[in-house]
Amino acid sequence: MNVHSVDDEGFRRRAGALLRSAANDLKRNTAASAEELGVTEEQIQEYFSGRHEIPGSVHSKAAAVWPLNERDLLPVRNDCPEGVIVLDVAASKSSSRVFQREDIDYYEYRDTAMSRLASFRPEWIRMLSVVDDDDPNNPNVHWNKGHLLYQFTYFVGPVNYYYRWNGESHVLRMETGDSIWGLPFSPHTFTARNDSEPAYILALTYGGELMGDAQHELAALGPSTARKFAWDENPWTTQIRLLRSHIDAAMLSVAEVAQRSKVTQDRITELVEGAAIPSYSEIESLAAALRVSVRDLLPVSPDSPGGISLVRAVDSRRWLYPSAQQADYSVRQLAGNKLHPYTRALEIQPLRDSDAAAISTHQHQYLYNVGETPMTMRWEYLGKRYEARLAPGDSAYVMPFIPTSFTVDSAPAAQASAARLLALRIAGRIGVEARVALGSMHPGSLERLLNEDRQWY
Ligand SMILES: [Fe+2]
Repeated sequence: MNVHSVDDEGFRRRAGALLRSAANDLKRNTAASAEELGVTEEQIQEYFSGRHEIPGSVHSKAAAVWPLNERDLLPVRNDCPEGVIVLDVAASKSSSRVFQREDIDYYEYRDTAMSRLASFRPEWIRMLSVVDDDDPNNPNVHWNKGHLLYQFTYFVGPVNYYYRWNGESHVLRMETGDSIWGLPFSPHTFTARNDSEPAYILALTYGGELMGDAQHELAALGPSTARKFAWDENPWTTQIRLLRSHIDAAMLSVAEVAQRSKVTQDRITELVEGAAIPSYSEIESLAAALRVSVRDLLPVSPDSPGGISLVRAVDSRRWLYPSAQQADYSVRQLAGNKLHPYTRALEIQPLRDSDAAAISTHQHQYLYNVGETPMTMRWEYLGKRYEARLAPGDSAYVMPFIPTSFTVDSAPAAQASAARLLALRIAGRIGVEARVALGSMHPGSLERLLNEDRQWY
């Protein structure tokens, strides 16, 4: 397993800031915090400042006497001091594990690049079970039970993909460059159609909005409450539920909504009962009446009938970037879903041997060289420039907003068309609301959000 060194000093400092923030939130000063946590004032100052590591016993005590959780006091570890982590193919190979299912060798797993900063759990997986048909009941097909993580899968070679949705089993014959995006907990499995050519996948699993805080909160609230939060994927019913939940939350009568929005009572009743779909101008009026943004009344519309979305290499979209005139990269769109607007899977072909445009995105990024030739990756972080070689089978993790560029050794040539980079970009925890909130705080307070360094008064 590739475990990268973490920034221990930064971890201590952030842990101290979290403890200080918690004490601030609970209106405890240094003396009160020390007394309630059973330590001296000198000790609590050492913890707050990050000069001393906070013992686990202090976190346990805080969770016992204060209304918070141990995990609220534990910061994230930063294992990416240069902005990018590269894992070469040799290190990936050395992590190889072969797993059996029902007594036959089924998969060979290899780790690829990952970081504690993002929820990617990407694996290179070779199919060891070979089938000679497309029957989901073939004795060489052994299913998993599904998993919490979302899965984006990129296929190389003659791989059969099997998935089950609502009790029905399906088989898809995949070819190199095909891709699939799948919903959590859908059972699935993979086999090879022959053993004479490479048959493997890049299984790029990642945690979405359900993993982490949402999962912990739902688990503590219990299944009957969790069920009340669950909305199906029908955009129309989602919109009705959105409208109703905002009206309920504000404790508004139909008459009050009508008076505020100038939409008639009869029409509002029709809308909340699902007898009609609101027009855009009605949504604007209702949003103003409810004092929410228009986007808060617009439905989310997933597009994965049957739990997956599939993009075949042969009919996927391809374009030049940044433009046809300045063709530094050829980009191909891979599988995705409207449920995850911030997840983007792309196949990128660098076309230049120098001076390629730097690419930057707000997302966490995972890269894997799926091509046959090496490429050079250049990036800039905190004022320093870096360069790394990405050979076939090498992979990388890139932090958000890092300008990166990719070039091949000689272009335009046959080499360029053989250079292919798989990129999966995912959102972290900083969604649209968080971005707006971050920019709307009192000027100059951003550093205090990240590292509270003072008592509030
Ligand atoms: Fe999986």
